Parts: sequence; structure tokens; C-alpha cells
Amino acid sequence: MNTSMEEALRLEAVRRVYGGDGNRVTALDGVSLALPAGSFTAVMGPSGSGKSTLLQCAAGLDRPTEGRVYVDGAELAGGGEAALTRFRRERIGFVFQRFNLLPTLTVMQNVTLPLKLAGRRVDRRRARSILERVGLGDRLHHRPAELSGGQQQRVAIARALVTEPKVVFADEPTGALDTRSAREVLALLQESVRVYGRTIVMVTHDPVAASHADQVLFLADGRLVGRMAAPTAERVAEHMTRLGELVGV
Ligand SMILES: Nc1ncnc2c1ncn2[C@@H]1O[C@H](COP(=O)(O)OP(=O)(O)O)[C@@H](O)[C@H]1O
Ligand SMILES: [Mg+2]
Repeated sequence: MNTSMEEALRLEAVRRVYGGDGNRVTALDGVSLALPAGSFTAVMGPSGSGKSTLLQCAAGLDRPTEGRVYVDGAELAGGGEAALTRFRRERIGFVFQRFNLLPTLTVMQNVTLPLKLAGRRVDRRRARSILERVGLGDRLHHRPAELSGGQQQRVAIARALVTEPKVVFADEPTGALDTRSAREVLALLQESVRVYGRTIVMVTHDPVAASHADQVLFLADGRLVGRMAAPTAERVAEHMTRLGELVGV
């Protein structure tokens, strides 16, 4: 078996430096990691530790200053913006804290948009079946403003899954939700890994959310400083407290 084929995401010594002389910030300071296909990883760390930068560099929404990113064995680089955009559309899904749905489009139109943008056949039947899976089969023609926050995030998850991406990145996907909606969203993310074999990388500051993942990676000051397999909310919370003491926040 070729193990590299099983690898959904690889980062090699990724650095991201913002600003220039006088206001230079090293947001990522040499991050290396490899995640197998079909895994669910949570990324935690104090505010400003580089979590969002890590996600954006890994998802091709931002470019590392140094280092390499591979998604599904292919390097996320080279070419221009157009090539990067195509790469993202084919292999990557993204879920944002604030849903980022287009307000003038219906639920169905929001979910099929990534297929349109990628120039792929707009398979409404598949879009409908994904929307049924996330519990919104009876909301296809509603607009985002007519849905609760939890429902909007479930639309966003359907939109992220419709292209069958290799990796789905989620930045605080439950950060704007009440406890019950958060639980539903986490269950859906978990299901997309367990049942459909997607690979998920989720930034969160919530130990309960993190406990839904297979492993947690801890970031501090732009570096990976810890890893926990089979996390429980209690162990994650305890580790975060110690991490906070370590970096003095
Ligand atoms: N566009 C930017 N320009 C300058 N500095 C930035 C930018 N984005 C993030 N940073 C800085 O990089 C560091 C990491 O930010 P971020 O990745 O957003 O952290 P987190 O998501 O863990 O809170 C912070 O010090 C932040 O201020
Ligand atoms: Mg952030």
C-alpha cells in the first residue's frame, strides 16, 4: 500500500509572516503535519496563536511565506491565482464561523453554487440528497435570512460537501451557535468523516467541540506544541489551561 496516497493533507515547515519592517508578525513559525484521509482533526490554541492562518494556508486561501502544502498528494502552489482557485474548487471545502451564505440565493442555489463555479454539472438530485442528510430537505427554496443560525450552518456544510472535496476546513464552525445547534453541526461533521470518508480540519476554542475529533493539535505562538489522540472535553480543557499558563495568557 502506498501510504502517501492515503494522506489528505501535508504541511512541511510552513511559515507565514505578515507585515514588514517595524510591524512584522510571524503568525506561523515552521508548522509540519500530515493528516490521513478520513480523519477529523481539531486545532486549538490561544487567541493569536495562528489557528486561522494555519487553516487559510492549508486551504489555499492564503500563501505561506515559506514551506509547502500538499492536498491529496498535490502541491498547493505554483501557477497563478486562477490555478490556485481551481485547485481549491476541486479539492477543498470551507465552513466559516459566520456561514458566509449568499443572502439573495435560495438554500438550493447556495449549495449548487460551488458546482457552477467549478464548471461542473449542477446535480440537483445530489444537492437535494445532501440537504436532506443535513435535515433541510423541506427548506430548499428558503433564503438564508429565513433560517436559524444552526440551519444556515447546516446549509454551509452541505455547500462544502457538494463537490466531494478531499479536505473540509472549518474555522470555529460552532462559534456563533447555541449549544443544541452546535451539537447538530458537530454530529454532521463527524458523520461526514465516519460515513462518507471526508477529511476534516476544524479550528475551535471549545473543548466539547474538539472532543468530537479523532485528535487535537495544539498551537501556541505559531508552532505546534502538542497533540492529543482520542480527546475528551475534560482532558482538552485541562491541557488548554496549562497551555495558557505556559504562554502567559
Ligand atoms: N492579515 C494580517 N495582517 C497582519 N497580521 C495578521 C494578519 N492576520 C493575522 N495576523 C496576526 O497573526 C497572528 C495569528 O493570527 P490568527 O491566525 O488569526 O490567530 P488565531 O486564529 O489563532 O486567533 C496574530 O498575531 C495576528 O494578529
Ligand atoms: Mg482565528
